Amino acid sequence: MHEDGRKRTTNEGLLTWVREIEALCKPDKVHWCDGSQDEYDHLCADMVRSGTFIRLNPDKRPNSFLARSHPSDVARVEERTFICSKRKEDAGPTNNWMDPDEMKTALRRQYDGCMRGRTMFVIPFSMGPIGSPVAHAGVQITDSPYVVANMRIMTRMGKAALDALGNRSFVKCLHSIGAPLASGQADVPWPCEPDIGRKYICHFPDTAEVWSYGSGYGGNALLGKKCLALRIGTVLARNEGWRAEHMLILGVQSPDGAKTYIAGAFPSACGKTNLAMILPPKGYEGWKTTTVGDDIAWIHPAKDGTLRAVNPEYGFFGVAPGTSYDSNPMAMDTLKANCIYTNVALTDDGDVWWEGMGPAPAHAIDWQGKDWTPDAGRPAAHPNSRFTAPASQCPTIDPAWEDPEGVPVSAFLFGGRLSKTFPLVYESFDWKHGVFMAATMGSEATAAAIGQAAIRRDPFAMLPFAGYHMADYWKNWLEMEGKGYKLPRIFRVNWFRKDANGKFIWPGYGQNMRVVQWVVERVRGKAKAEKSPFGLMPRYQDLNWKGLDFAKDKYASVTDVSREGALAEAEELKGYFAKFGDRLPPAIEAERKALEERAKVAPEVWRLPE
Ligand code: OXD
Ligand code: MN
Repeated sequence: MHEDGRKRTTNEGLLTWVREIEALCKPDKVHWCDGSQDEYDHLCADMVRSGTFIRLNPDKRPNSFLARSHPSDVARVEERTFICSKRKEDAGPTNNWMDPDEMKTALRRQYDGCMRGRTMFVIPFSMGPIGSPVAHAGVQITDSPYVVANMRIMTRMGKAALDALGNRSFVKCLHSIGAPLASGQADVPWPCEPDIGRKYICHFPDTAEVWSYGSGYGGNALLGKKCLALRIGTVLARNEGWRAEHMLILGVQSPDGAKTYIAGAFPSACGKTNLAMILPPKGYEGWKTTTVGDDIAWIHPAKDGTLRAVNPEYGFFGVAPGTSYDSNPMAMDTLKANCIYTNVALTDDGDVWWEGMGPAPAHAIDWQGKDWTPDAGRPAAHPNSRFTAPASQCPTIDPAWEDPEGVPVSAFLFGGRLSKTFPLVYESFDWKHGVFMAATMGSEATAAAIGQAAIRRDPFAMLPFAGYHMADYWKNWLEMEGKGYKLPRIFRVNWFRKDANGKFIWPGYGQNMRVVQWVVERVRGKAKAEKSPFGLMPRYQDLNWKGLDFAKDKYASVTDVSREGALAEAEELKGYFAKFGDRLPPAIEAERKALEERAKVAPEVWRLPE
């Protein structure tokens, strides 16, 4: 049945677009999502019947489901992600580009008839609390019920979002799994386009549109997240004078009751979700931490110049492996009910399991639906397996997480995974230096032949997410200075220094609160810092070690700075910056030179004073 959207909305732009897409994609049915629990329950029951979902044991995980994707559809496809700005130079050297008209002409051929045999869902959604002055409306069209169910957890979607949209414009998000069904053809549990060359994740920043084809997984398919909130978001933000950032938002309340909010950007595999949900460790009685967001921050200047951050999402789409009651108890508590799991293992008692959760079950069904035992020689859960969980279920969720104005940000943290050279924590000398620190962050790639670890740069953790030229994005960061904003302080952190035996020196994510406390105290003008070649650093006695045995010499081994290492960094950055040609802001190159100069005059091994 082709449902008539006129009963739902008078938004002519939306009604016309839905009709156009229906004519192009030729679905059997059209369904406008109202976002109700009843609708969700029906969709989930349908997916259990079709084999897309497995209902987990309701005694262990009430109202929770497991999906297993096609083995070709397990992650974001960066090589098939395009920024189709009118001018190639606006996409910059770090993005794939194609002319928007050419891309649309080519893609229309793929979309033609791509929803045959399927239902086309219309999902009105809001990124940001409904009614917030900083929220943005999107409407996603999709032929995947799995996507609908996930979007209901990850965004505020349905009737309330449609009513709030009214007759205004919205970001058009078109998605198809690219798997039409011929009449009588049986469906499969995870339909998608298996040919990688036919998958496309396309962004049209000049017209605020997303066209995604061929994948049903994560960021390729849940278009509110990376596509709207980041890639289109960065362009909207540039045009409108705010920032769309790939950042967690953490609240820290010290024993005197003062609350400080920190936003942090990290590449994958650096413990971003763990930091977003960190608990004060032993020795931190009287401290309290709260979670506003785990992945994305939309940051707006308030009238008084404060930068205020909103988490535009409504749920967490987190990597499951490595999540445990040891590493992230608040995530584990969030996952007790009402979640969707994708590509994790199924235990014999109908629960989920993944590597790093705890003791392995003697037997399980792996993410590909095969029998698995601990000696199988392969992981039971896919390394990029995920949970989709309502943010409201997080026990540390901040009371202000849905504040339409957002929370005030006092510090930015940037970090990568680096085994040497870079200290545990350092603060920038000033704003420009901080932007340089974020622009040059990254994680180690595989060790090169000569044993030198090359850094895969991931500026601001935005390499795959900036919707316009990366050097212009840096310029916009630099230009935040001088606008009368109360600028947050900027810090780089690195939890990953290794000793001579290749072992991590820092005792683990749970102790990152020690660094967080120093950051908070710097912001509040209460902590000292020493000038090092990289930036301003805490001495041993400037950190709180209560409840943790971490000796002074160990601290030295995560904070000393080798002149050779610092010089090598300044040298390596030359090649990295060359890519940006004359769009590289001169202030960024000036910071590189300043680092070089500081390193040149530093002792062979610079150490914090006693
Ligand atoms: C994510 C990512 O899934 O950054 O959050 O890839
Ligand atoms: Mn992310």
